[in-house]
Amino acid sequence: MVYSTVGATKIMETRIHPSLRTVEWKDNTVVMVDQTKLPNELVYVKYTDYKDVAEAIRNLVVRGAPAIGVSGAFGLALAALGSKASGMEDFLKDMEQARKILFETRPTAVNLAWGLERIMNVARMGKDPVETRKKVIEEAKKMAEEDIEINMRMGKNGSQLFSDNDTIMTHCNAGALATVAYGTALGVIRATKESGKKIRVIATETRPVMQGSRLTAFELKHDGIDVSLIPDTAVGYSMANGLVSKVIVGADRILRTGHVYNKIGTYQVALMAKQHGIPFYVAAPLSTFDMKSTPKDVVIEQRKASEVTGVAGRKTAPDDINVINPAFDMTPPELIAGIITEAGVARPPFEESIKKLFGQGP
Ligand code: MRU
Repeated sequence: MVYSTVGATKIMETRIHPSLRTVEWKDNTVVMVDQTKLPNELVYVKYTDYKDVAEAIRNLVVRGAPAIGVSGAFGLALAALGSKASGMEDFLKDMEQARKILFETRPTAVNLAWGLERIMNVARMGKDPVETRKKVIEEAKKMAEEDIEINMRMGKNGSQLFSDNDTIMTHCNAGALATVAYGTALGVIRATKESGKKIRVIATETRPVMQGSRLTAFELKHDGIDVSLIPDTAVGYSMANGLVSKVIVGADRILRTGHVYNKIGTYQVALMAKQHGIPFYVAAPLSTFDMKSTPKDVVIEQRKASEVTGVAGRKTAPDDINVINPAFDMTPPELIAGIITEAGVARPPFEESIKKLFGQGP
């Protein structure tokens, strides 16, 4: 069934097609899974206007740091295609306007800025709009391919940290649905299983947007990986009762000091893991590292109150209640056993080991 809505064409599917990805460039359009509909409906949406891609990022149609990085790049590719400019100056003006609109959608995940900048660098080096349009599209497509390859390398590096019969807790969704395909934290879980080890996963539901229950549980079940869902409030219980061997999460931004920004609630999970002597790992590509900022520079996205005052459109809080709804929190380096990347695993002390990942170490 195919039907149209404002800004997007929607394509109904019954299952994730292995060759179709979370986000993809297809016939000069951007196709993505509409994650707001999961797990009830698997719907692919198709965009032709970068402003609709920006709305899709803002409204969590696509989410997860690497996925929004590539979506931002594809948004700029649509902007390049849509620009009527015949000279480079006007072309770059159009591109800069699109970059700004895409950039302002979500402030915390550094991959978005990284993806936009990578495309803008290609645009700025262009000599004429016709040639540059092609180069911009090629670069965005290349970024999508690289994302998958990086996740698979990260998965291999991380799988060595996990043992046969481990039960691995994860928070939020750092899976195929948060990337182009395969995933970061869930990529490590996939690679561990592919290496022949028997593993189980515990997924937190991840209030208030439920990325754990709607997306991680859906994705792992779809792929036949043993997963149990727990309410966020059962993290302590699960750890105290010996149900968890290791924890792995993704990241939206990692500072050079090893401070990790990830989905709200990650800090609580890391603290609890420390209390129970359970290793807490983070998996993220090098594009998630922000080597310039310090914690005071990082903007934590605050989301709308209705995410907290209701569940599935039904009110669960009194009218006019004050709400605090940060989307991310910061986990300090002392709670982290290792940061898994495509370039290897960084161990504490992180300032030194992260530098080495970037080839700047001694
Ligand atoms: O608000 P979201 O769903 O975009 O938040 C996503 C997360 O916090 C993920 O854990 C993070 O982006 C890592 S994804 C590989």
